Amino acid sequence: MTPLPAAITAAGLQVSRSRSKILQGLDFSVDAGRITGLLGPSGSGKTTLMRAIVGVQRISRGTVSVLGRPAGSALLRHDVGYVTQGASVYSDLSVQANVRYFGAMHGATAADTAEAIAAVGLESFARHKAADLSGGQFSRVSLACALVAHPKLLVLDEPTVGLDPVLRAELWERFAAMAAAGTTLLVSSHVMEEASHCSSLLLLRDGLLLAQLTPAELAERGGSADLERAFLAIIKAADRGQEESRVTS
Ligand SMILES: Nc1ncnc2c1ncn2[C@@H]1O[C@H](COP(=O)(O)OP(=O)(O)OP(=O)(O)O)[C@@H](O)[C@H]1O
Ligand SMILES: [Mg+2]
Repeated sequence: MTPLPAAITAAGLQVSRSRSKILQGLDFSVDAGRITGLLGPSGSGKTTLMRAIVGVQRISRGTVSVLGRPAGSALLRHDVGYVTQGASVYSDLSVQANVRYFGAMHGATAADTAEAIAAVGLESFARHKAADLSGGQFSRVSLACALVAHPKLLVLDEPTVGLDPVLRAELWERFAAMAAAGTTLLVSSHVMEEASHCSSLLLLRDGLLLAQLTPAELAERGGSADLERAFLAIIKAADRGQEESRVTS
């Protein structure tokens, strides 16, 4: 089978804000039809990178292309779904009305709406006002709004925060099924255990890409089957490398 062309390609990607470099020249590509995990500590630049990919973040240098077009191109409107860390739904509307509203922008049908609501396990809350939902339920409404458009690339910023283990497992199963059907998913998390659900991992630290590898490679390189430990080991090794280069330069 010939591999699909990359869904995302970044070359020398730099983002600066208030004169500090938030992303410091990233080079990577994301395979189509796979789940790629974007992992890194708080403040490492995950959200900024996702914003650059969906085209809402000004880039100071380098390029990002998405599905063969420059990130943010108007032609990508129906092909890229983005679920932010903050809520992007209307709290005074029902779950169903929210999903229908987002779906309408992409020509989605009533069946698509029902399917997206079911996918996030909110069928019995479809007619409830978003404001009346629990925190975890509320965050899933945004996800349903992104799913309803059937995007080719789905960018999800920490979608499993606030979800219980059962729902989290169900969601990862859902993501795996979507990837199997050809959707590309880029999912950020700082729960390292979730890395095992991804085909490829981008490890960010202080705006630098420490590595792009598979979960198995992460375990091997970090010397632990516990991916959290493995990541910490890689971070420590990178810190030591920086120390050494400071001493020798
Ligand atoms: N509007 C802004 N102006 C200046 N600096 C910003 C702005 N937004 C974010 N930053 C800085 O950019 C860096 C990366 O932030 P970003 O939100 O991308 O991190 P993150 O990895 O998504 O963190 P978290 O896991 O907490 O969501 C942080 O140091 C943050 O303080
Ligand atoms: Mg973030």
